[in-house]
Amino acid sequence: MNGREHAAPEILPPCPPPRPEQRELLHVDCASHVYPDGTPGIHGMCFRVYEGEIVALCGPNGAGKSTLIEHLNGLLQPSSGRVTVLGKDARPGGEQELWRLVGVVFQRADDQLFAPTVLDDVMFGPVNLGLDPEQAAAAAREALAAVGAGNLEGKMPAYLSGGEKRLVAIAGILAMNPRIVAFDEPTSDLDPVHSAAVEQIIRDLRDRRGISVVLATHDLDLAARLADRVCLVKNGSITAEGDPGAIFYDAPLLHDAGLREPSFVRFYRDLCGAWGIDPGDRPLTLEEVARSCRCAPAEEPEGRKKLE
Ligand SMILES: Nc1ncnc2c1ncn2[C@@H]1O[C@H](COP(=O)(O)OP(=O)(O)OP(=O)(O)O)[C@@H](O)[C@H]1O
Ligand SMILES: [Mg+2]
Repeated sequence: MNGREHAAPEILPPCPPPRPEQRELLHVDCASHVYPDGTPGIHGMCFRVYEGEIVALCGPNGAGKSTLIEHLNGLLQPSSGRVTVLGKDARPGGEQELWRLVGVVFQRADDQLFAPTVLDDVMFGPVNLGLDPEQAAAAAREALAAVGAGNLEGKMPAYLSGGEKRLVAIAGILAMNPRIVAFDEPTSDLDPVHSAAVEQIIRDLRDRRGISVVLATHDLDLAARLADRVCLVKNGSITAEGDPGAIFYDAPLLHDAGLREPSFVRFYRDLCGAWGIDPGDRPLTLEEVARSCRCAPAEEPEGRKKLE
């Protein structure tokens, strides 16, 4: 189902003011984009990326997530509105060039890989940034190691598996040392092991490198595990944004956006309903449940023998 088909015309919420306690890196300021065939990809889109956060863009198929992502690194230009980086206009050739600041990992890794070997591919960005071949190779090897794909450097990208291609595509972005990495459906088509690896890479970007992450996905379970902030995308605009707990426990809001609650939320809410208790702090993971009910390890029942 296309997110646009069941949408009634609506008045968009006003562009939310910046969060004063966080440093804004990028601002998509009431941008619209109309594709050459007349299709509106986004409209009245207001979106900010802050330092050191993972922000999820959640919306159904056709909602405009990829169109927005392509505005983040300048691949698409807004038909109206603007994109600013650190408060400055980010037009092509301007003072702030988006592609230096923002790396995008596309939905299809094939769109991103083209060089004869993996190492050449990952070096391409650093060479373009002006590094000499030796420095570029060192940056590429470091990035490949960071995603656990160091063993692939001599392979032809075309012969890699889908999961390997995704890792190499991420390395190609990391080698350019971006401030923001935007992932478009990063775990689609991956097996559970590769999905978990990509999920951990995303967490490490924020926690170990201080890189901000934009995560476009309709996998709300993934967003619930990773995001610090959630934006719901519907009909080319952000219709709601907030803390993951507040958004993901608001079933009517999610349904209105063409989405369903994350499976953990459905399970936990149903469990609380069956037990007649309040979901409390709206946890999104088992660890959060344990923390919110302060579950300590169970006491050994008296009389039970301890196994040494
Ligand atoms: N190159 C294009 N030319 C014309 N229309 C396009 C083009 N790319 C996207 N669109 C349209 O723009 C709208 C938003 O598409 P977009 O790909 O941004 O959605 P999405 O949220 O990423 O969807 P999905 O979850 O399926 O990836 C859709 O109506 C789509 O048909
Ligand atoms: Mg998309």
